[in-house]
Amino acid sequence: MNNKRIIIAIDGHSSCGKSTFAKAIAARLGYIFIDTGAMYRAVALYALEHGAIVSGIVDEDRVVAMLGDINIDFRFNPERGASDIYVNGDLVEGKIRTIEVSNYVSAVSSIQQVREKLVKMQQQMGERKGIVMDGRDIGTVVFPEAELKIYMTADAHVRAERRFKELTAKGDKVTIEEIYENVVSRDNADMSRAISPLRKADDAIVLDNSHMSVEEQMAWFDKEYQRVLGC
Ligand code: DC
Repeated sequence: MNNKRIIIAIDGHSSCGKSTFAKAIAARLGYIFIDTGAMYRAVALYALEHGAIVSGIVDEDRVVAMLGDINIDFRFNPERGASDIYVNGDLVEGKIRTIEVSNYVSAVSSIQQVREKLVKMQQQMGERKGIVMDGRDIGTVVFPEAELKIYMTADAHVRAERRFKELTAKGDKVTIEEIYENVVSRDNADMSRAISPLRKADDAIVLDNSHMSVEEQMAWFDKEYQRVLGC
């Protein structure tokens, strides 16, 4: 057994199961798992709750002015087998995954100062390696030297269906059409923004999980992991 600890960077489209996959890998390897989307969502939630998003418009200057007041930390939750996100000591895990936050998070995440602050935090979290991080710019910007980079995708209809099931199971009143629209518009926004757009790193390997179970994805991962470790 090889005990080398590495950095695993997972990027890809919205709602393609990156976090589920990343969490399962981290549990298997005894690594830390960080969902960086949760960090951008936490900033968007704070902006919504503190008047920086008015009449559907994100006031970038106000968001930037608030950044110093936003302290984000993760605390491991053994029940979930993953870390919950806290803002200024408040648990916000349940509040960041609403359609309202989803509708503003792309705009908030395209603000340069927001990215600078969160990327710095993410790099510090990875200093000791043994980490699985998922997001949009992990293999390209946060950890360009990551030993294993995975670029995940899935058909947009399949992704909308999955997210729809997740949200309706929680009791959210949403339609499949609005979810599909949100998924596609976030893809476009993430891929076309000026700073750190979503793109596949040249050395990333692609995982299209449109028709794969979690078990099949894990079997695929095991092979790639062994390859990287040279086993
Ligand atoms: O993974 P997610 O859907 O929870 O991410 C929420 C948003 O945050 C997504 O629309 C893009 C943005 N994001 C980003 O710009 N960079 C990251 N590393 C992670 C997420």
